Amino acid sequence: MEKQEIRTFGRRHGKKLSERKNFLIQNILPKIVPNESETNDILEIGFGSGEHVRELAISNPNKVIIGAEPFMNGVAALLSGICDENGAVLDEYKNIRIFPDDVRIVLNNGNYGFDEIWILHPDPWPKARHEKRRLLNADFLNLLSKNLAMDGKIIIGTDHWEYYDWILNQVKNTTLYETNLAHDIIQTRYQKKNMAGTAEPKYIILSRR
Ligand SMILES: C[S@@+](CC[C@H](N)C(=O)[O-])C[C@H]1O[C@@H](n2cnc3c(N)ncnc32)[C@H](O)[C@@H]1O
Repeated sequence: MEKQEIRTFGRRHGKKLSERKNFLIQNILPKIVPNESETNDILEIGFGSGEHVRELAISNPNKVIIGAEPFMNGVAALLSGICDENGAVLDEYKNIRIFPDDVRIVLNNGNYGFDEIWILHPDPWPKARHEKRRLLNADFLNLLSKNLAMDGKIIIGTDHWEYYDWILNQVKNTTLYETNLAHDIIQTRYQKKNMAGTAEPKYIILSRR
């Protein structure tokens, strides 16, 4: 990152990883990091355990999907889900690239033209004193806009309705506008965990002006 950015995520590491997951991080991850010389079509930011990245890879076999996530246990979970027992990437997941860090590093240094950018259940940072940690502020949305194809779409889902309203307010100060394109969206792990007693997710679809 060019300037010191405020941290928008919690832990980088959780419980100790298995031998298989450590092997995949050391040996497979370096081979599937994003590469600007190929066409990169879809970005998912903060993929958690990566179930939606896998879904995107299967439903878009001819597109390259980049997943960005700084939480290493999540990165390890995705690696484990896309590799066979010998540690080889399964054919149906060969179009996945993983960036194991803050997505702003990729976006600030690149000049991408993504068709789709997905952000499902971004950390809502509900306490007022943590509001500055919210990722989807106007500056970040403009950074996404710069890295979006002219007819590209940003798809945001959250079950935190106050954050939803906050994001829509931020959009007003960006080069993006809200559209109502329908999208099939699978339930992520975070969403399932939070179903009891919380709100239905709401979605925001954004296009470039
Ligand atoms: C609440 S979790 C949701 C995970 C997943 N999308 C789901 O729905 O299960 C939010 C995720 O965003 C990630 N995150 C936060 N800031 C990020 C950033 N700057 N770049 C990439 N990922 C980020 C966090 O590490 C965390 O895993």
